Amino acid sequence: MNLHIGCSLDASEIADLLAEARARTLLLISRVSEADLRRQHDSLMSPIMWDLGHIAHFEEVWLLDGMVGGRGESEGLRGVYNPFETPRADRGDLALPTLTECLEFLGTVRRATLGRLQSLDLASSDPLLRDGFVFRLVLQHEYQHNETILQTLQLKLGDPYAALRAFPIPTKPGNSMLSVGSMVTFPGGEVTVGTDDRSAAYDNERPRHTMEVAPFRIDVTPVTNGAYTEFIKAGGYRDEGLWDEAGRAWLSGSGAEAPKYWRNVDGVWSTRVMDRSGPVDPDHPVCHVCYHEAAAFARFAGKRLPTETEWEAAASWDPAVGVARAYPWGDDPAAPLLANVDALSFQTAPVWSYPNNVSPIGCYGMIGDVWEWTASDFEGYPGYETFPYKEYSEVFFGDQYKVLRGGSWASRSGAIRTTFRNWDLPIRRQIFSGFRCAADG
Ligand code: AVJ
Ligand code: FE
Repeated sequence: MNLHIGCSLDASEIADLLAEARARTLLLISRVSEADLRRQHDSLMSPIMWDLGHIAHFEEVWLLDGMVGGRGESEGLRGVYNPFETPRADRGDLALPTLTECLEFLGTVRRATLGRLQSLDLASSDPLLRDGFVFRLVLQHEYQHNETILQTLQLKLGDPYAALRAFPIPTKPGNSMLSVGSMVTFPGGEVTVGTDDRSAAYDNERPRHTMEVAPFRIDVTPVTNGAYTEFIKAGGYRDEGLWDEAGRAWLSGSGAEAPKYWRNVDGVWSTRVMDRSGPVDPDHPVCHVCYHEAAAFARFAGKRLPTETEWEAAASWDPAVGVARAYPWGDDPAAPLLANVDALSFQTAPVWSYPNNVSPIGCYGMIGDVWEWTASDFEGYPGYETFPYKEYSEVFFGDQYKVLRGGSWASRSGAIRTTFRNWDLPIRRQIFSGFRCAADG
């Protein structure tokens, strides 16, 4: 069972998905002390207790407050848990609940939700209710805050995850055919991107539309740590010609010389991934780079970043039949056997690890492992309509944010698909972000 696009859900399946999402949230914080849940570890992130309270409040607003069955009556997210009223940087000083109070809040809302669920008409013509849309909205919200919590836990050194590491990463190549660093060609032509789905997709993924794409080439795998280390060695961080103006400003302001979390010890790069430190593994995709680093590497390699249309075409479009797939491999939703998703690996994987995670044109690893920066600004598609609230997507449209695609190891499988769009500021690298390069065909 999965909430993915096109999957119909009955009330008991929704209840199971809600329970599974909550069990995962509680598992992720099970290693963290109450003091550390309350502390703001980095000004970029909320105290984890805020994420927990906000998860409960979001559910309260969308599933209880009169949004269901009496739409639009809620005033929306309120006070402390409204991210616009209380921006992340200010969340360190909040009078947050204790863990007991927070768990009580989560539980009280959830009991009411489950009561409500039994009497709802999921075949309703109300677009909020139909096909369980609003439940999938609440589920995906919790999934996305799970990834936010993992970003915070990665920033904060120390908790042991050994007991939670349920997905072992392969140690030898499962795919001898794959040639790391090479490119495949997309033939070009008309492709459809986005979706008309109204059961699980976000407003920013709609509507499905046709784009004329010129032929292009794209990397078979995300850029690896090995390739990225060559860029560092060649002086990429000091070569001003590789960075545009905003990139140079970021570079001089940050003093960065390598991806976030990398340290050079006697000429050897090492890094920390959650609770584990060690030498950088050259076969893993580079992670924790910002858009500017991705763009500079691409220039260094004589390439460029793909547009998000190119990324989606490379991930989903089957040129042989002229059809877009919901996942690179077909219609089966993402799962830990297919791709590095769902967080319990607690790390990236060697790029050769998932032989079935391949798109029709031959791109590997487009789902999971690392989010991939694209060259595109986050904008509404032609014909975009906000649904159900403008603070999810619309308020972020413009040239401030760059689109990332594909999800990371920390993304829940229910919140990733080939049409899914993520966005962040081009300077951000606490997210699990890497990239692959493209070039004109
Ligand atoms: C889609 C990841 C950019 O975390 O700001 C969570 C997801 N929206 N709560 C974010 C989100 C509202 C969003 N991103
Ligand atoms: Fe949120």
